[in-house]
Amino acid sequence: MKVLSVVVLAVLGCSLAQGRIVDKCDLRNQLVTAISALTVNGEHKAMNDANDVAKFVCHAEKSAGFNTSAVTDLPAGIEDTSHQGGQNWPSTGQQQSNDASPWQTREPPQPWTLLGVFQLSNRLFCDDGQNPSKNICDTSCSNFLDDDTTDDVNCLLKFFSNSGFGAVQMSIEEILKMIHLILQPDCKDVQDSEYFAGCSQPPAP
Ligand SMILES: *[C@@H]1O[C@H](CO)[C@@H](O)[C@H](O)[C@H]1NC(C)=O
Repeated sequence: MKVLSVVVLAVLGCSLAQGRIVDKCDLRNQLVTAISALTVNGEHKAMNDANDVAKFVCHAEKSAGFNTSAVTDLPAGIEDTSHQGGQNWPSTGQQQSNDASPWQTREPPQPWTLLGVFQLSNRLFCDDGQNPSKNICDTSCSNFLDDDTTDDVNCLLKFFSNSGFGAVQMSIEEILKMIHLILQPDCKDVQDSEYFAGCSQPPAP
């Protein structure tokens, strides 16, 4: 029995570490389906921008290479240097005259770990068992690293459909930082029709 569980653990460990490369069109379909099922306070909630799905999938491509096990350590104070156009955070350029910058008067920035295909932060979305977290998706961070992207999709949509905002107090800095990370410059102008040109039509809502 002991041998068996060691083998099982080793296999599990491997599949966690290696991750799965998600198909771009599959991820799109998953998002489209989840968005069409999205309700907030019992009301159907549409995304504002028709190209949101393309932006989210583009983000998964640029930040995680579609790898479900992608992990990025973001040192404290660095917004996101791995993405083009990323800025230091807090940026010295944002400090004005002699006044204390609003950034300095708040909690010092924390290092973030970004997890999974959408690179969700361990400080906001999940509990890594080590660091304080808003844990808005009420889950363990390891769940964002497995092959199943359902929880990643639902958590991302929870954040962007505002239902996460009301339930948990997040500072405006945290919200902006995460939005900035997800809606990265590389993906700002991506158009659904071009980005998914090679995909067949998504499932009808
Ligand atoms: C996915 O990411 C993990 C963690 O960084 C890495 O170990 C693994 O090799 C990657 N998988 C692929 C298929 O690139």
